Amino acid sequence: MKILGIETSCDETAAAVVESGKAFGKDCVKVVSEVVSSQIKIHQKYGGVVPEVAAREHVLNILPVINEALLKAGINRSDLISKKGQAGIDAIAVTVGPGLLTSLMTGVETAKVLSYAWNIPVVAVNHIEGHIYANFVEPKTDIEFPALVLTVSGGHTMLVHMEGHGAFETIGETRDDAAGEAFDKAAKLMDVGYPGGPIVSQCAERYLVIDPELNNKKIVLPRPMLNSSDFDFSFSGLKTAIRYELEKDKDWRERIPEYCHEFQQAVVDVLIKKTIKAAIKQKARTVMLCGGVSANKELRRQLELEALRAGLRFAMPDLKYTTDNAVMIAAAGCFKAGRGEFTEWRKLGADCNLGL
Ligand code: KG4
Ligand code: ZN
Repeated sequence: MKILGIETSCDETAAAVVESGKAFGKDCVKVVSEVVSSQIKIHQKYGGVVPEVAAREHVLNILPVINEALLKAGINRSDLISKKGQAGIDAIAVTVGPGLLTSLMTGVETAKVLSYAWNIPVVAVNHIEGHIYANFVEPKTDIEFPALVLTVSGGHTMLVHMEGHGAFETIGETRDDAAGEAFDKAAKLMDVGYPGGPIVSQCAERYLVIDPELNNKKIVLPRPMLNSSDFDFSFSGLKTAIRYELEKDKDWRERIPEYCHEFQQAVVDVLIKKTIKAAIKQKARTVMLCGGVSANKELRRQLELEALRAGLRFAMPDLKYTTDNAVMIAAAGCFKAGRGEFTEWRKLGADCNLGL
């Protein structure tokens, strides 16, 4: 089965073609082609995504991006119309939410038109489910269920119990800022640029080079809700804590790597402790990581270590499938299509607050 995936939920216009495959004797997807048109440079000057600007860019980019993905997959566009469903694409998977409504609408309306024109069914994909399914793109781990998934992105921080394919139960989430949002806000306070996550983590690496022993570390930030009995998170207090520290410190600009290192480790400590605790309580066999913040090298390294220490399997997406992309949407769509979960194009709609 071959699926065309479309993703426009925030500031990346992306399309990809994947096909169903096998790894470790289990279902997975293989990538046939992928294209991402990022708007980061456009939004950088505003210090964040401007929804109106993002929506306009999606409208301009969506067809060229889809065309390129099809071309790279060796699929002839005119065949898609003339051969009606016999030209190589079995279904169109599109992100329907959560995300920015005006961004989502471009992908959703495009999928509807293509579904009608090509006479190909549509699969409605939840963006979070897409992030989770990045783990099933040519996986390097034999993923056994039940699994405990840590989903950390710019908009979400969730612990999800996954009993099997398509069976999700959210057991914890953030009460305020998402982990990625916290990175972005901390970066803004330190005036280091946008998007904050990658910049803060690069600065944190510089601290390790400056001081490999970490023995002159003076800044200490709190680990919010580290020992709470539930599986929820809270990151807004951490942002306030770093703001107070910066206000007290007249030389803070010279110590940015140290601030970044401590901030990153505070987030990582909380995420890891709660994830492992939840995995043990839920009797999970695999810990999975996903979402934009899963690009963070320290989170990847330390969570893998702790999961293996706890006797659990560990899976994480390839780096390029951590932040928003269409391969993960096509992957989730491929599994849903395999279960016959299609949506009639007339009934397809964007839902900016869609839950998992
Ligand atoms: O999943 P994503 O691309 O978009 C959403 O669905 O939100 O995640 C974007 C978020 C941003 O907040 C960005 O700062 C964060 O992921 N991020 C990182 C890293 N790379 C991206 N956070 C920490 N460390 C990174 N290396
Ligand atoms: Zn995302």
